Amino acid sequence: MTDRPVAFITAGAGAGIGAAVSRRLAGDGYDVVVTDAHERRCGEMADNLAADHGRPFLSIPLDVTDRDAVADAVGTALGHHGHIDALVNNAGWSKIEPVAEMSFETWQRCLDVDLTGTFTCLRQVLPHMIERGSGAVVNIASIAAWETTDEHGAAYSAAKAGVMALTRVAAAENGRHGIRVNAIAPGLIYNDFLRRIYPDEFFDGYAQSRSLVGRVGRPEDVADLAAFLLSDRAGYITGEVYGVSGGAGPHA
Ligand SMILES: NC(=O)c1ccc[n+]([C@@H]2O[C@H](COP(=O)([O-])OP(=O)(O)OC[C@H]3O[C@@H](n4cnc5c(N)ncnc54)[C@H](O)[C@@H]3O)[C@@H](O)[C@H]2O)c1
Repeated sequence: MTDRPVAFITAGAGAGIGAAVSRRLAGDGYDVVVTDAHERRCGEMADNLAADHGRPFLSIPLDVTDRDAVADAVGTALGHHGHIDALVNNAGWSKIEPVAEMSFETWQRCLDVDLTGTFTCLRQVLPHMIERGSGAVVNIASIAAWETTDEHGAAYSAAKAGVMALTRVAAAENGRHGIRVNAIAPGLIYNDFLRRIYPDEFFDGYAQSRSLVGRVGRPEDVADLAAFLLSDRAGYITGEVYGVSGGAGPHA
């Protein structure tokens, strides 16, 4: 056990935002608890952080749709470190199907991962933070919640809108317990996995027509804001949703 701040992150071992947040918080001195549904990558991320920083990191394979597993993982993190100071709800899933054709499985899976997964982690971590009288949470939403477009699929947009509402209410309920809850709404953030799915024109189109700064986002763009929002420097900021989209998102 150390007196470092402890950050619990979901989907922290992929190719995108979660991994960047894990690396950034480790660099900022957190004991990062890396969780991810992908068991091998989860362990590898913790190993890589350990190699980079010369201290061990806890990894826990975790699918956020498994309610019992979330409770166990939070218990394991608390047993290991004694406290959790920061929670980053990064796990997300989407499948784009028009509403008129969407399978109920797609709708339910998206709600389960993106919205209920966020709730489940909050539900497990908040009582601990309330008991300690401190904590900070960042939920990863999306500008999809703000847009009038068929690009993201209604299940994803609705789930991310729900994450924003959940963020505001959780902030309202817990500010007096010393806990801040904010959300980030990324626009298009490049990662190697998306790169394998989408053609170059997809990224170029966003960079040229939507982004005001002529490029798509990097995972580090989101990690920088997450690190700030989790820090004491953001002590007067709670219940907010911030776009990180190169200015592309309508802000509502
Ligand atoms: N990449 C973008 O352009 C973009 C834009 C807006 C919002 N977001 C949101 O940002 C978050 C991170 O997305 P990313 O694209 O940077 O990828 P990422 O690499 O951070 O996340 C992918 C990881 O999520 C894990 N994962 C998937 N389902 C899971 C589950 N049920 N439980 C736990 N882990 C699970 C996978 O194993 C993978 O390692 C998501 O919530 C996504 O909706 C991404």
